Amino acid sequence: MNHFSPSILSADFMQLQTTIDALKKGGADYLHIDVMDGVFVPSISFGMPVLSCVRHNTDLFLDVHLMIDNPQRYIEEFVKCGADLITFHYEAVEDVTATIEQIRKQGVKAGLSICPETPAKAVLPYLSQVDMILVMTVHPGFGGQTCIPECMDKISEIRQWIDEKHLTTDLEVDGGIKLDNVDQFLTRGANVIVAGSAAVKGNVEENARRFCEMMKQYSK
Ligand code: DX5
Ligand code: ZN
Repeated sequence: MNHFSPSILSADFMQLQTTIDALKKGGADYLHIDVMDGVFVPSISFGMPVLSCVRHNTDLFLDVHLMIDNPQRYIEEFVKCGADLITFHYEAVEDVTATIEQIRKQGVKAGLSICPETPAKAVLPYLSQVDMILVMTVHPGFGGQTCIPECMDKISEIRQWIDEKHLTTDLEVDGGIKLDNVDQFLTRGANVIVAGSAAVKGNVEENARRFCEMMKQYSK
């Protein structure tokens, strides 16, 4: 099943409720929450208080993307604040399996993400352990970047492994996704699409509607 997961990172935070309501009205079923710590990535975004407020004001599925070093320190807290799915970075932990187990133990879904320089095969041993793989198509840390074309092959590669193993693991893509290139991600087999700047700037409801229409054309 396809899911549209707009990121609030580039939103006007004074208008967050209006933005989230418009995204939902346009058809988004997930909301992507980008948490940055200034260590794993250069910038600092927001954390628990914002997640908690969002949780109390929407029933959208909260897809939390942790771009933080040593995420194991904060998993329980993010769950308490309302995460439905927690994705951490392969590059940010020492023990991937232990981190997945820690997330699952909290009763939420677990995702594993790789940065552009990490090869697809890094996630292969964990495909059946996680609910979702997130392929970053920009260097994590900022919204509004251009997709790195070299990352595209990883999407097809991982989709092939998921299908060969008859798994239901979701495949999410994030970074530089716009209405005029989203088809390239969908044809390669991504089924969860993140869009930040292309979703929350301009007519938010219309943006979401157009992304969802594109995704319907590729639904399996
Ligand atoms: C980047 C974040 C993304 C970001 C995407 O580090 O993980 O989720 O919000 O923004 P766009 O779609 O503008 O590239
Ligand atoms: Zn993200």
